[in-house]
Amino acid sequence: MSTTLRPESMHRIDSLALAQQFIDEQVAAVRAQVGDKKVLLALSGGVDSSVVAALLIKAIGKQLVCVHVNHGLMRKGESENVIEVFKNGLDANLIYIDATDRFLDLLAGVSDPEQKRKIIGAEFIKVFDEEAAKLDGISFLAQGTIYPDILESIKQAEGKKAVKSHHNVGGLPEEMKMELVEPIKLLFKDEVRMVGEALGLPHAMVYRQPFPGPGLGVRCLGAITRDRLHALREADAILREEFDNAGLAGKVWQYFIAVPDIKSVGVKDESRYEGWPAIIRAVNTTDAMTATVEEVPYPVLHKITVRITAEVAGINRVLFDLTPKPTGTIEWE
Ligand code: XMP
Repeated sequence: MSTTLRPESMHRIDSLALAQQFIDEQVAAVRAQVGDKKVLLALSGGVDSSVVAALLIKAIGKQLVCVHVNHGLMRKGESENVIEVFKNGLDANLIYIDATDRFLDLLAGVSDPEQKRKIIGAEFIKVFDEEAAKLDGISFLAQGTIYPDILESIKQAEGKKAVKSHHNVGGLPEEMKMELVEPIKLLFKDEVRMVGEALGLPHAMVYRQPFPGPGLGVRCLGAITRDRLHALREADAILREEFDNAGLAGKVWQYFIAVPDIKSVGVKDESRYEGWPAIIRAVNTTDAMTATVEEVPYPVLHKITVRITAEVAGINRVLFDLTPKPTGTIEWE
């Protein structure tokens, strides 16, 4: 079980100098653990897996094999960014799998949120396993487990206040003949970010807002269609760009667009124009268990509305979600 506890003597990594020291220690530890063997990592482009990738590239270079699975539910430009940073920038041994059609074909006509999540999760493991099976001589599996994952899972195991079980805590199934490499498992999120900065990863990647594993799949509400998913992705990109322009990007905890499977009557170019609404969600929280709504300045909302309705085919209205958690959850599904 990957449940080592953090020693009390361990300093909080709150400076680039301490982050550098941590990196040096981990580079040595990983080299000692891995030797000349190969390590596999599922690289989503999230903060944790990105930091692990950059750290392992520093330690063992091309002995690390990264697999990036694009499930077709990434935000605009995200998979391209992973390739740019890791393959072009860090010369990583990166396998890119575009599994968009597999996922969208499986999800066609499925409107139940839990069913959608199960399909996405199971297919992700399947695609990753298929790729792993094609590779020879992999002895280790790297994971971006961080300390809160371990703490939350321990609480659950003790029957205390359960938060959620984390898929990456508890070790690997017996049949997987691989050993784990978890270089950031004793770090809190802010420390992971500090290490990411010290490793030279782009600021936007290190301070990326949380993004659910099922991606845009749980924001394209109801049964996903390619045209509505495309509209959602474009509208979300505009929202992110305008939050950036307004200086809100680093200030608001999470912000995104959801597009429901309903159409309303509208008017465009003096003709009837039926389209979907784009729903803006912008929330702040410390632990994601409760959340408050960000009071986004009206001029920012106005600009986003003008741009989305003008630039995104299929959207004819923009709404703002005023609901805190509870009663809403942060995501819509
Ligand atoms: P909810 O919607 O439950 O979300 O209020 C709380 C936080 O968790 C994120 N979230 C997920 N993260 N896999 C993840 O890695 C998931 O399946 C998932 N579902 C929700 C959500 O974006 C929010 O930050």
